Amino acid sequence: MKRDQLNELVYQMLETEMGGVEIYRTAVRCATNDELKKEWKKYLGQTENHVEVVRELMGELGLDPEADTPGRDVVRHVGKSLVKAMEMALASTPPEAAQIVAAECVVLAETKDHLNWELLGQVAKKIKGEEKKALEAAQEKVEDEEDEHLYHTAGWARELWIEFLGMPAVIPPPEEEKDVKTAIGAARAKQARAEML
Ligand SMILES: [Fe+2]
Repeated sequence: MKRDQLNELVYQMLETEMGGVEIYRTAVRCATNDELKKEWKKYLGQTENHVEVVRELMGELGLDPEADTPGRDVVRHVGKSLVKAMEMALASTPPEAAQIVAAECVVLAETKDHLNWELLGQVAKKIKGEEKKALEAAQEKVEDEEDEHLYHTAGWARELWIEFLGMPAVIPPPEEEKDVKTAIGAARAKQARAEML
């Protein structure tokens, strides 16, 4: 395992979570469905906590949370772009369209976030000693929440689009109803949607 690259992953993780906080703050403003607004407010609180979890992990790995890397800059740029996309939608599209843009932006951001944590889990299997414990403890705290953020919002994005297209939609989406926490579960929920209409 390449130590410098593990450090880079952790820097990107912090930046992803920090960007996530801003993304959820904006997404909450875009939400018109009360249930979705409530859900994103919950995810905002959880993401604020993930920032702290990554900061603590950095302390245990001897990394400076203020240090910048070129890769971290790129992640920051993507986060800001997603916020800007939602602001554009808020200013220029109907509310139901801005809500869909927000769901898509959350899915894009959470795809990176989910990958980060999955990779950290892979590293935790290889690394040894105190650092292994620190990585596992951090992952344990966020794992289920990250799954929910990605799979549930992906379900919302799909169903809101279907509704927007004037077709029968399942709202809240089956991923939410079935409390999906895995990719297989998400595939099953999607398959089952036809029976829920
Ligand atoms: Fe997160």
